[in-house]
Amino acid sequence: MSSSFPSRSPGRGDAVSIIVPTYREAENLRPLVDRIRQVMPALGRSWEVIIVDDDSRDGSDQVIAELAAEGLPVRLITRVGVRGLSSAVIDGFGRAIGDTLVCMDADLSHPPEAIPALLDCLAGGADFAIGSRYVPGASTDEGWGLFRWVNSKVATLLAWPFTKARDPMAGFFALPRAVFHRAAALNPIGYKIALELIVKCGCKDIREVPIHFANRKFGQSKLSLKEQVNYLKHIKRLADYKYGWFSRLFQFCLVGGTGAVVDLSAYALLLDLGAHPLARAMSATEATHKLMIYAARALAILVAMTWNFFFNRRVTYSHMRGGRVWAQYWRFVSACSVGAGINWFISCFLPSKAAFFKAHLLAAAIVGILAGLLFNFTLSHLWVFRRRQRGVGGEGA
Ligand code: GDD
Ligand code: MN
Repeated sequence: MSSSFPSRSPGRGDAVSIIVPTYREAENLRPLVDRIRQVMPALGRSWEVIIVDDDSRDGSDQVIAELAAEGLPVRLITRVGVRGLSSAVIDGFGRAIGDTLVCMDADLSHPPEAIPALLDCLAGGADFAIGSRYVPGASTDEGWGLFRWVNSKVATLLAWPFTKARDPMAGFFALPRAVFHRAAALNPIGYKIALELIVKCGCKDIREVPIHFANRKFGQSKLSLKEQVNYLKHIKRLADYKYGWFSRLFQFCLVGGTGAVVDLSAYALLLDLGAHPLARAMSATEATHKLMIYAARALAILVAMTWNFFFNRRVTYSHMRGGRVWAQYWRFVSACSVGAGINWFISCFLPSKAAFFKAHLLAAAIVGILAGLLFNFTLSHLWVFRRRQRGVGGEGA
């Protein structure tokens, strides 16, 4: 059967398209559509349900065919050879007829009864409405293990630099089609499509409607560890998108923080070795002992520098990972050499100037590290991971 949209004639702008991404949800489809049909007709707006299924082969197509045969405005889009919740939602939005877009899960975790409240938010001027688990009046079914709860809280915390919404992780939301089209380039990795849309569509007026989030009855959640890792990558990309070089400075400092730990550990280890009777015997005089400390400091810095390079290449500048590694390493080490020199100099000479640092060599090393870090970021950002300019110094082979 056809949907209740004969065409996109004027006056149908109030139509609502409900997009449901599915993977192996055959048992949930009829109960879901049954509940939607209890709600939508009373609104006096045309509506459709679009199921975007990633080739589940579990009889979903059969169920949808039956529902459509009963005259319900339900359509199935089957994607073959692709998997992904977020991309399914975006594909669904792209095929929707309504000027209002709703997204929800198939597993009845999201109550269709809350759709009217979401639509009211949009009618009231919101550019994004969330069916939220974390506003007063909302609740979740029992049996949300500690793991899922902590997981959800940490994920929400990480989203804080992007939106003050309480539940930007939700898979239940509504937005006007015009807002959806504001997004320049969507990058639908992972599960957090709402967050992606809020950031990329520049949503300002975000309203939340409390829902009761029910546990799924049939089938299994598809949220895996891989999705958690994907989420971290997603957060990084959104941060780079929204905060540009400031986001990279932040990551550079994070990496630098781990590098500092590597540096100090290596230095402490070398100093320990230096305190060994054998090493003591080799550095009998005060002068040779000092030299050994200087050498230990230099070696620890080199180890940390190498660590930092590979970590920055992997995370902070992951988009430049295609570049030639040795060329980048060489530039990184050259760039850092001045910072490393500053680090080394301060670490080695503070102790000769102040008794405190003479007694605490690692404290001197910390001061040296901080001075070096600031210097290094500036050069690394401007030179090491710089973009190649077209036509200048071409790729060679
Ligand atoms: N097309 C398609 N492709 N759909 C998928 C895929 C996929 O690869 N993976 C999952 N889905 C569908 C499921 O069939 C379901 O309808 C919906 O996406 C949510 O998947 P679940 O597996 O039930 O996810 P969840 O319950 O762990 O996560 C839900 O709650 C989270 C918050 O706790 C989702 O709503 C998440 O978006 C939300 O962050
Ligand atoms: Mn679910």
